[in-house]
Amino acid sequence: MLNSLRDVLNESIQDLYSAEIQLLKALPRMAKAASEPQLKEAFTAHLEQTRNQATRLEKACEHLGIKAKGKTCAAMKGLLEEGAEVIAEKGAAAAKDAAMIVAAQKVEHYEIAGYGAACTFAKILGEEEVAGLLTETLAEEKAADEKLNEIAESTVNDEANSEEQDTEEDTEAGDDDAAEEDDDEGEEDEDEAVAPKRKGEVPAKKSVSKPGTNKR
Ligand SMILES: [Fe+2]
Repeated sequence: MLNSLRDVLNESIQDLYSAEIQLLKALPRMAKAASEPQLKEAFTAHLEQTRNQATRLEKACEHLGIKAKGKTCAAMKGLLEEGAEVIAEKGAAAAKDAAMIVAAQKVEHYEIAGYGAACTFAKILGEEEVAGLLTETLAEEKAADEKLNEIAESTVNDEANSEEQDTEEDTEAGDDDAAEEDDDEGEEDEDEAVAPKRKGEVPAKKSVSKPGTNKR
């Protein structure tokens, strides 16, 4: 029952504990499914962190005189179901990695919200030790989210984008010469051949050439 801020704190911590325990089971599957070595490593490293985070929550529960178990975090259950769908889906390696990063970042953001709020409640209630434990984990979750961002931006997103272009099996779509002509006059020149837009096509920021298909 929620009658006070202390009740909210207690339930928040039990909810986070359930979330971490569920995540402990899912992370090895995510690490196994990841193709990009950095992503595999990030999931594996976060597994170890998650164990520590669950232990911190057990300690927090001891301080608060409550049981850690007793609640099922429905949100984490749903987030992990979505993650499992991505893992089970067929497709190109980098595209799957990109989707797994999104799924993992949703998990991190959920945890960041949960830990952030619980930490604030603990401080208000004068539970400094509990607040300290929660702050430590909050910093780890933020760092994990940041790491996933880095992996997406440094490799996975570009790889996934190249994969899409590769699977389209058409490298002649863009006429480089026409594309380079910058017509700033705002006039629509219909004679200028513009490569037809295909479903899922992204504007070519850089030319991706395959061996044997280089025009020049
Ligand atoms: Fe966590």
